[in-house]
Amino acid sequence: MIESKIKQTVRDVADFPKPGIVFKDITPILKDAELCKEITAALAAQVENLQVDVVAGIESRGFLFGMLLAQALKIPFVPIRKAGKLPFKTIQQACNLEYGSAILELHEDALQAGQRVLIHDDLLATGGTVVAASKLVGQLQAEVVGCSFIIALDFLKGRERLAEYSPAVFSLASY
Ligand code: PRP
Ligand code: HPA
Repeated sequence: MIESKIKQTVRDVADFPKPGIVFKDITPILKDAELCKEITAALAAQVENLQVDVVAGIESRGFLFGMLLAQALKIPFVPIRKAGKLPFKTIQQACNLEYGSAILELHEDALQAGQRVLIHDDLLATGGTVVAASKLVGQLQAEVVGCSFIIALDFLKGRERLAEYSPAVFSLASY
């Protein structure tokens, strides 16, 4: 099963990036080409009935499978980046994370009004990042139809926090 393969492969790193955080390191997954292919197919299968127009991936780890997922679905990918990285005109939203805060940006022409957007990130923790990403999508009058993650840290209650912003929340492995 994909969930057990992911759990066997992800590495726990204690006290990163701050004391008390047990960090889920996905880099061992990236070294396993077959597993990457299986994860991409599983992420695509979860959303096949959602009629998604665009995948929006969140910097930086959300880019890794976000782009693969968009390619598997044969639809566009747009990057949501941390402040100061996108070159064209942007819109902004502040967000709080499990271990800090950030400002996220999206190019103002990244989405068209009414487009059905799937937000993708590697991991759901408190949900603060995806709440901000959802607000960016809404600012451009596009619609969040789902959020997709490889890993969800359910004990941090991100799923509950996202309920108001996304009609569907998908993950392949939960803790
Ligand atoms: C991590 C992770 C998610 C976010 C989850 O990213 O990749 O984007 O935090 O936390 P939340 O659900 O509490 O908001 P990070 O900010 O560490 O950036 P990175 O992907 O560039 O390493
Ligand atoms: N691992 C990886 N990314 C994260 C984590 C974690 O435990 N918490 C918030 N983002």
